[in-house]
Amino acid sequence: MKYNRLALQLQREGKKVIRLTAGEPDFDTPEPIIASALKAMKSGKTRYTPAAGIPELREAIAFKFSEEYGKHWTPSQVVVTNGGKHALHLALMSIINAGDEVIIFTPAWVSYEPQVRLAGGIPVFIETDDSFIPDIERLKNKITERTKAIIINSPNNPTGAVYPFHILKEVAELAIKHDLYVISDEVYRHLIYVGRHSSIISVEGMADRTILIDSLSKSHAMTGWRIGFAIAPENVALSMVKLISHTTSNVNTPTQWAAIDALSFDTSYMKEEFSRRREYVVERLDRLGLPHSTPDGAFYVLLDVSAVAEDDTVWVEELLMKEHVATVPGTAFYAPGTVRISFAASMEDIKEAFDRIERFISG
Ligand SMILES: Cc1ncc(COP(=O)(O)O)c(C=O)c1O
Repeated sequence: MKYNRLALQLQREGKKVIRLTAGEPDFDTPEPIIASALKAMKSGKTRYTPAAGIPELREAIAFKFSEEYGKHWTPSQVVVTNGGKHALHLALMSIINAGDEVIIFTPAWVSYEPQVRLAGGIPVFIETDDSFIPDIERLKNKITERTKAIIINSPNNPTGAVYPFHILKEVAELAIKHDLYVISDEVYRHLIYVGRHSSIISVEGMADRTILIDSLSKSHAMTGWRIGFAIAPENVALSMVKLISHTTSNVNTPTQWAAIDALSFDTSYMKEEFSRRREYVVERLDRLGLPHSTPDGAFYVLLDVSAVAEDDTVWVEELLMKEHVATVPGTAFYAPGTVRISFAASMEDIKEAFDRIERFISG
């Protein structure tokens, strides 16, 4: 937020600022999805719905996941939420008692820690390995009697790392052994450029203890619509619905109807464009000669600036003030010494930004 504010101030002064800070696709919501929402509004779908979401959408989601993973989920295990963030909050509020520990792998997205604390839990941070993949030995050492859940996020924000299936299996084995929940944040699951997405929920024995979080924000360029969902064990789903019914009530009704059509809308053109940019970004990063993460998924990469800067926040501020390129300090993601670069920006802007970054580093 701070760097966005500074960027806006520079823009007002007439500077051409390039923002590589975006946490959302730079595409517009596809026209047919907008048309679905308009149609819903015009046909009177403007009233309250059940708190958990309209049955048609819950059914469509349960069907989609059952088909994808060859398992069976019932609509009653699906909770429709105001984006993935809301689903995460409800999941934590439902399973965490005061003093329960929740494992978070770092670098990590900014909202997990506050959400764990809001639920009365204690965050326990575990650094990932050099490839930004969970280190199973470190995980084993951090599990205690008070551990209640593990949060995983693949594809990852801010590193772009995609966890291999064998790692998910090892996390699953530990979760089963110690009777833990896994909250699997998969909001970037449609954006994978190398290999395939696998979900921990598909590992034998995990459907009973996994709360899968998904949303249409990133996959369908619908960040402002606020539509996401969780797939959870029946008892957890019930608690989440109780919380919804006494707090926000249902997600706005036209969006829910549009979401049914969105689920079957092919957004691979967005992924193809992100993939093209990713290739270019990796090539430019390699030329910089600084270590960086491999963004196999999502639209972020983490650049290690520790060899050229004492403090990532200072580096980010200087890059912005001197070269008018906005990025996000890794400190925000528990990764001091690094900087997050988003490639949810036009190719033209990315090219220009990397020319400026190169000049900044060599200058
Ligand atoms: C890792 C991760 N999880 C969840 C979310 C929340 O997404 P939504 O817009 O669906 O609430 C984000 C958004 O930036 C994210 O990066």
